[in-house]
Amino acid sequence: MKQKIFLTRTLHDFALKELKKKFEVEIHTGKIPIAQNILKSKIKNSDGLICFPYDEINKEVLQSAEKLKVISTFSVGYDHIDLDFAKENKIRVGYTPEVLTDATADMAFGLLLDSLRRISEGDRIIRNGKWKQIYGAYDYVGFDLQGKTLGIMGLGRIGKTLAKRAKAFDMKIIYHNRNKISKEEERKLGVKYVALDKLITQSDVISIHVPHTKETNQIFDMKILKKMKKTAFLINTSRGKVVNEKDLVTALKQKIIAGAGIDVFKTEPINKNHPFIKLENLVMAPHIGSSTKETRIQMAELTVKNLINGMNGKKPIYSVGY
Ligand code: DGY
Repeated sequence: MKQKIFLTRTLHDFALKELKKKFEVEIHTGKIPIAQNILKSKIKNSDGLICFPYDEINKEVLQSAEKLKVISTFSVGYDHIDLDFAKENKIRVGYTPEVLTDATADMAFGLLLDSLRRISEGDRIIRNGKWKQIYGAYDYVGFDLQGKTLGIMGLGRIGKTLAKRAKAFDMKIIYHNRNKISKEEERKLGVKYVALDKLITQSDVISIHVPHTKETNQIFDMKILKKMKKTAFLINTSRGKVVNEKDLVTALKQKIIAGAGIDVFKTEPINKNHPFIKLENLVMAPHIGSSTKETRIQMAELTVKNLINGMNGKKPIYSVGY
């Protein structure tokens, strides 16, 4: 008898084909994200689970699993999975780093460029029929990138790749990270380590690349936002929960900082009544950091491989915890 796997949402056809060769496959086709009670009932008899970053794979859900061997998430982030519980219960967890590094760094850089040069704002002005006069001395002026200081908060794979982009635009780059990288790598990337406080106060743009954990939860609150330069921008492509959204709204409204570019939100999707919607100095993207055709194919390949490994009692290619 084939082992059973459950997907909380469909994947590419090639991935489904591969999975169906080996396993009995059930795919959730209803409302996204799947309701917790349906998830619990589906996970009960599944040997493997493929999930997405918005699915809450918490202790309560995992407690209902009777024979789950592996969780394979279609994401680099895994803050939605109770890793401690998974580890205690010998459930493997696979994720998809590396393959989405370039796409996500591109997205962060895109938001940076858009925020400083007001591209989306200009697009809205034209579409709304508000472009009345051309080429004035003070019209829609943004900021140069060259010479500005980019502060990278979290210099992992994506942070380092963003540094390469920024270097090509002649930005000065400082970073803060749990661990300093080697002098040699600092030199190659053209980055300088600074304490967190310096990163906050000296940067013209701060880009967040830390995972969401207990320590980083809402770390960007009013206290930090107030320490940033009034002319500074905040870019976030990591997780929405790393920022206190209420404080960010106030900071943008009251011009405590100049602007922000975000791809991630505390709760996704947001609706048209969200206070972010009215802010002209905010550029938003609908959580598409890794969403390129090429990257998503590679993520699906890796998600399948991670799952297969776990189903065979092996470590996923990229594994967290057990
Ligand atoms: C992930 O994979 O966790 C990212 O949020 C994708 O953009």
